[in-house]
Amino acid sequence: MPIDDYLTLQGAVRQVLGLDLGHYKREQMERRLRAYATQRGYSDLGGLARALGQQPALGGELVSYLTIHVSEFFRDPNFFGHLKELMAALPPRSGKPLQAWSAGCSIGAEAYSLAMLLLEERGAGGAQILATDVDQKSLDRAKAGLYREDELKKVDPERLRRYFAAEDGQFRVRDDLRREITFRHHDLLRDPYPVDQDIILFRNVAIYFTEDAKSHVLSNLARSLAPHGLLMVGATEAILRPLELGLRQVRPFFFARA
Ligand SMILES: C[S@@+](CC[C@H](N)C(=O)[O-])C[C@H]1O[C@@H](n2cnc3c(N)ncnc32)[C@H](O)[C@@H]1O
Repeated sequence: MPIDDYLTLQGAVRQVLGLDLGHYKREQMERRLRAYATQRGYSDLGGLARALGQQPALGGELVSYLTIHVSEFFRDPNFFGHLKELMAALPPRSGKPLQAWSAGCSIGAEAYSLAMLLLEERGAGGAQILATDVDQKSLDRAKAGLYREDELKKVDPERLRRYFAAEDGQFRVRDDLRREITFRHHDLLRDPYPVDQDIILFRNVAIYFTEDAKSHVLSNLARSLAPHGLLMVGATEAILRPLELGLRQVRPFFFARA
């Protein structure tokens, strides 16, 4: 039987990077990996697996290449309108800031959008926002907070003035907004989850997860919610049997603990 070089590479990625490609849809991952291998001059995925074993530094680049990072500020503006409304109805926390988590935050656009909304609704220090991703390169960009104009097209001029400073033709997030967020490396398929979250944004992350991995992550996220917490998924994502995962739907793309 011929050797399945995809499985060879899957093993090397798991061993060197701790990332389990078995939880991602093979077709999409394999296409990306073969394109990457060709680009880098490896004859097949086995060659790439050997190179990864010899130069673990290749790993960071590979994770970045495998994961999709497309994001923008105030992606799906309707969503932020609903969020503002639902947030106003959350019961007050006694002496504790609201806890929010952007899970799979990519370059940080989602977390900063959420931070603007929370600053305006709850004031400075009214919320603690955690933003996590498995891709360190994206996290580094998120922390740097420097964005091109096209990434900011849905930020209105008033917010642009208030929260950003122009820098070499781009825009840098001001410190008072950045201070609202903690960025951290986190693999949703492996690492322990934070608990007692009032708001979790899990948008456009599960697109390449297998159905089993998606269900597993969604039931973990359900357990991470505070009793009245809200979980949000992307505008093109559906949860078919939410109750089986410990969730109930409260609006399109918004879920609460069942
Ligand atoms: C398309 S971006 C979505 C960004 C943002 N949530 C949005 O909707 O604009 C998907 C992100 O999920 C991250 N991701 C993929 N697998 C992950 C995993 N196992 N754990 C954490 N993040 C993951 C990717 O690195 C990528 O940055």
